[in-house]
Amino acid sequence: MIYSIALDGPGGAGKSSIAKQVAKQKGIVYVDTGAMYRAIALYMLKNNIDIHDQPAVVRALSGVEISLEYRDGTQCVILNGEDVSTAIRENPVSMAASVTSAYKEVRAFLMDTQRNVAKTTSVIMDGRDIGTVVLPDAQVKIFLSADPVVRAKRRHKELLEKGQTVDFETVLSDIQQRDWQDINRTEAPLRQADDAVLLDTSDLDFEQSVKAVLDLIEEKVGE
Ligand code: DC
Repeated sequence: MIYSIALDGPGGAGKSSIAKQVAKQKGIVYVDTGAMYRAIALYMLKNNIDIHDQPAVVRALSGVEISLEYRDGTQCVILNGEDVSTAIRENPVSMAASVTSAYKEVRAFLMDTQRNVAKTTSVIMDGRDIGTVVLPDAQVKIFLSADPVVRAKRRHKELLEKGQTVDFETVLSDIQQRDWQDINRTEAPLRQADDAVLLDTSDLDFEQSVKAVLDLIEEKVGE
């Protein structure tokens, strides 16, 4: 049986690492929709498009082609033929993605690609509006949350491990700013779907979070 798992929540709640592990254990496809929004933001930055100028961003979309490829089970984001999976993780791209993903034309641009993957195979798709907009009929909907300070600590550690020097206060204030932008935008704001299960990972470690998601899948899908 083909089924979909919608995993939404704010940045740094652990969605992508949890989703990757769950996908591996269940043998299903992980779709990271944030990476697609990031690729669009990267294109705008690279081409010196003012990200705050919505009409300019929308015009520039005609030059954007995004696809997902899977290598050894890992999602790679391809922007106009180039694998940008690493470049999209830089902090300026995170901040820009939060701005450009608020534009309805940007969201419409990615919607079909996201829905199409889920038509042919079982997926765990993470994002902000998967349970509310992209896959409203998903069999399992989870809203993953965690205290902003806990999320900032995790993100800070991740960045240090990647060799990026950034102070904790900046990471925290960036997370708070992105939360604000994602929650308060008009188009597909970040919110928990009425039928989603809230999973707060503030006091859970990685293994416990993965187990909680696997338990929910078993309960809802019976697999
Ligand atoms: O999950 P992430 O940090 O990679 O997401 C990057 C940005 O894209 C974030 O600011 C929110 C936005 N986004 C979105 O609006 N809708 C999604 N389904 C996924 C991400």
